[in-house]
Amino acid sequence: MRGLFITGTDTGIGKTTVGAALVRAVVASGVRVRALKPIESGCETDAAGEFIPADALKLRAASSVPDAPLSEIIRYRLAEPLAPAVAAERANEELNVDECLALVRRAQADAEVVTVEGAGGLLVPFAGTAAGGYVTVADFAARVGFPVLVIARARLGTINHTLLTVRELERRNLTCAGVVLNDADGDAGTEIQTNAEVLRSFGVKVLAELPYDVSGSVSLEPFFQIWKSLS
Ligand SMILES: Nc1ncnc2c1ncn2[C@@H]1O[C@H](COP(=O)(O)OP(=O)(O)OP(=O)(O)O)[C@@H](O)[C@H]1O
Ligand SMILES: [Mg+2]
Repeated sequence: MRGLFITGTDTGIGKTTVGAALVRAVVASGVRVRALKPIESGCETDAAGEFIPADALKLRAASSVPDAPLSEIIRYRLAEPLAPAVAAERANEELNVDECLALVRRAQADAEVVTVEGAGGLLVPFAGTAAGGYVTVADFAARVGFPVLVIARARLGTINHTLLTVRELERRNLTCAGVVLNDADGDAGTEIQTNAEVLRSFGVKVLAELPYDVSGSVSLEPFFQIWKSLS
């Protein structure tokens, strides 16, 4: 496995948390890994007025290059917590997908494994405009060309959300690397016991079920297993 595109069934379901844990496990296995977040919206502003990309910072810290310039991890930072294309339109900023792709290719030239986190879910407007047409996260994932890992919420509703995401990957002939069920909110009930089984019966490759961890991070242990199954 040389690259992995990380998407989810929703925003806030643990793409960065799970992606960073996977990257840490791969780094701990002695592999050179770069973890990218080409466009990040919802950035806070620091005292100097600069946008702080929380995801890109977490991913860089987990990678083999924790001191790399942020410009090698992220290309565009946006303030409003909206889909990237919408936040950019409102800020009168143009997002160039070719430049995001160039960021990925440069990372590939330096690392053995590259991970790329999209934004929100698969059909989120990633670049472009309403008038000119949007480039979705799925369109960008297709250009990146990596297998796609789907992070899904471990709770009621996830069977539908996960199958819709996996079916859309299939419809676009994108390779699904697998699904990780993640209890990001700590409110998974009895449904967590049946989700994986039901999804598997639909032919979905469920790689792991991650419990809620009060520390806000997740244990690296399952990720050595996930890495093995991906490589
Ligand atoms: N298994 C877990 N246990 C405890 N907290 C978790 C777990 N997974 C995620 N979280 C927490 O849930 C929140 C959202 O996670 P994260 O930022 O990784 O989501 P995301 O899908 O990357 O969001 P975005 O769409 O904004 O990029 C974070 O505060 C994170 O610490
Ligand atoms: Mg994230």
